[in-house]
Amino acid sequence: MRILVTGAAGFIGSHTCEALLQRGDTVVGLDNFDAFYARSIKERNLDDVRAAAGTERFTFLEADLCVAADIERAFAAGPFDVVVHLAARAGVRPSIDDPAGYVRSNVEATALLLEACRTRGIGRVVFASSSSVYGADSTSPFAEGARADRPVSPYAATKRAGELLCHTYSHLHGMHITCLRFFTVYGPRQRPEMAIHKFATRMERGQSIPIFGDGGSSRDYTYIDDILQGVLAAVDRPLGFAVYNLGGDHQTRLDELIDLLARALGKTPKLERLPEAPGDVPMTSADLTLAHRDLGYAPRVPMAEGIQRFADWFQDFGVK
Ligand SMILES: NC(=O)c1ccc[n+]([C@@H]2O[C@H](COP(=O)([O-])OP(=O)(O)OC[C@H]3O[C@@H](n4cnc5c(N)ncnc54)[C@H](O)[C@@H]3O)[C@@H](O)[C@H]2O)c1
Repeated sequence: MRILVTGAAGFIGSHTCEALLQRGDTVVGLDNFDAFYARSIKERNLDDVRAAAGTERFTFLEADLCVAADIERAFAAGPFDVVVHLAARAGVRPSIDDPAGYVRSNVEATALLLEACRTRGIGRVVFASSSSVYGADSTSPFAEGARADRPVSPYAATKRAGELLCHTYSHLHGMHITCLRFFTVYGPRQRPEMAIHKFATRMERGQSIPIFGDGGSSRDYTYIDDILQGVLAAVDRPLGFAVYNLGGDHQTRLDELIDLLARALGKTPKLERLPEAPGDVPMTSADLTLAHRDLGYAPRVPMAEGIQRFADWFQDFGVK
């Protein structure tokens, strides 16, 4: 297939490009090198993709999805069978300081991209959504049928708005659009401000680890290879409009996570207790019944193994 991947220079985007190329697809990757974290890290992600999967079927375009002329340029590299839309401003806490910026990158850009797909007759899109759409009071485990209409951060609200736009385009124009709600993804190339990478950096520097709340908050962490399994399955299956959780099938408490990571890195962590952070949810837990039924999704990487793989990567390539 010929596939457009947005957010290609990012954590999940670079792995997605690599996996698609490795199985024989042709990929056009697009990214604007958003300043959320260093361009040099994203350039290295792209170098890793080229080193692992070659350059023959991979084209990269520096382009901003908020700029109509850039979208034109990207689609001129088509036609595409599927668009995998991973580009976004990610991160819950920074969204509280710049809600309008998040709306532009996550909602307006999604609307422009969907419209570009419609006008070019591209009927298949995979959209990166987030477990954060469930808010702080959904019943655990989170199931796709839950209301998901009480987001507790601007980031979560923009991801839910993206899903709603996807539904509208599928309804009006018969497009096949699959929204994947990723549950805290980790592994090599994880964004440097995300908990696992940030904690590793701080342990490496001998700095304390900030713990918001009592350490009892928990996350359904998902290893990147498991996420890729779900993304590729969604790329391959036109399902009308559909929403699926992609989780790791286990919850890990914050204090357990820090122990696992410290052991994998051979460090003794120093902890700094801080009050609960606004916008954070106390726990996430994915109901995987639908993803298993329709996508054959079955996460395989246990937490201890995934953390060890992350730590091995971090020793050579992490932000120190
Ligand atoms: N990492 C996670 O745990 C997680 C969890 C839930 C959802 N998600 C979603 O998955 C997707 C990928 O996340 P990630 O962790 O790889 O983040 P990332 O920041 O590493 O990747 C996103 C990429 O999108 C690019 N981008 C942002 N705005 C753009 C624009 N206007 N035009 C073109 N490119 C733009 C950025 O430069 C970046 O490289 C995002 O949509 C995110 O919301 C991630």
